[in-house]
Amino acid sequence: MTKLGDRITIGELSERSGVATSALRYYESEGLIFATRTTGNQRRFHRSQLRRVAFIRSAQRVGLSIDEIRDALATLPENRTPNKADWARLSRGWQDRLDQRIAEIQRLKTKLTGCIGCGCLSLRTCSLSNPDDVVASRGPGAYYLHPH
Ligand code: FES
Repeated sequence: MTKLGDRITIGELSERSGVATSALRYYESEGLIFATRTTGNQRRFHRSQLRRVAFIRSAQRVGLSIDEIRDALATLPENRTPNKADWARLSRGWQDRLDQRIAEIQRLKTKLTGCIGCGCLSLRTCSLSNPDDVVASRGPGAYYLHPH
């Protein structure tokens, strides 16, 4: 791998980060990463943006939305790239989010267990297809079709 200069092209940023150039352009349009323009109107990213891209990808994997990532990055002075202490502080707050996702997946698994062998897929009563779970608590199956 060749050594990068301080200013890198979108292709170099893509190659080093493993993130598609289309996604990088999107991140830029959303204000998550920053580039200057050459006189020929080509993007040049400071090398530190690589770390910002790594932060964004990690946050996305945890389930943060683009807006939430932007808010997190906005807590950094002058939109600097997260340093070690920033990363520790911001990522610590993500543990609750992962716990919530784990709990939600466990609830889904319980519901799926109720569906297995049922097959009703009722929009009114199935605990998976009925997001409000209105009557699913009365048991799996097509409750209104076959009242218990
Ligand atoms: S398929 Fe989900 S409760 Fe019947």
